[in-house]
Amino acid sequence: MVLKLVVLISGTGSNLRSLLEASQDAQFPARVVAIGADRDADGLALGEEFGIPTFTVPFTAFPDREAWGTELIAQVRLWEPDLVILSGLMRLVPAAVVDAFSPHLINTHPAYLPEFPGAHGVRDALAAGVDQTGASLIVVDNSVDGGPIIAQERVPVLPGDTESSLHDRIKPVERRLLIQAVLDIANSHLDLKELAR
Ligand code: GAR
Repeated sequence: MVLKLVVLISGTGSNLRSLLEASQDAQFPARVVAIGADRDADGLALGEEFGIPTFTVPFTAFPDREAWGTELIAQVRLWEPDLVILSGLMRLVPAAVVDAFSPHLINTHPAYLPEFPGAHGVRDALAAGVDQTGASLIVVDNSVDGGPIIAQERVPVLPGDTESSLHDRIKPVERRLLIQAVLDIANSHLDLKELAR
């Protein structure tokens, strides 16, 4: 089965890039059918580079999170995805989005959940002075990064690490976890409904 993916971003989309590169292999069992963003994200340029349609549902153009979510659902549904990936979407999605897509709605996070949830997972790990953090891939539910864990891996914090150096070491782990999960879902080795039951 070839999975249709919609990937939602807010930033540079470097994890998205690795997914797009992986899916250039004809054997890879998934295709990104659309890239969406909540703002004028740099990563939308990947759409042009890889020939993938893009859409933007600007968060600030809507009166509230619920109205934004309603339009986001409509835009994502146009592509009839098998899986929706939040790959650096820096917004909490409203319950209607969870209801519409979960458990086929997954999120990458730059920490070893349930440690350091939220928008600043890398910064919070550094501030806590831990000697290891990690990367996680989860099913999105109505909690803040508290959904069922699909995969996660530890990443050491090294002396002298900055938020950016640590994040740069976490991201390749996130990419590996994400690509493996997409493969496992496509090959029926991972059942998100079962995981989220
Ligand atoms: C990734 O590390 C992703 O896990 C994180 O944003 C980064 C996006 O990087 N997401 C969160 O922190 C969500 N709470 P990218 O735009 O370079 O792929």
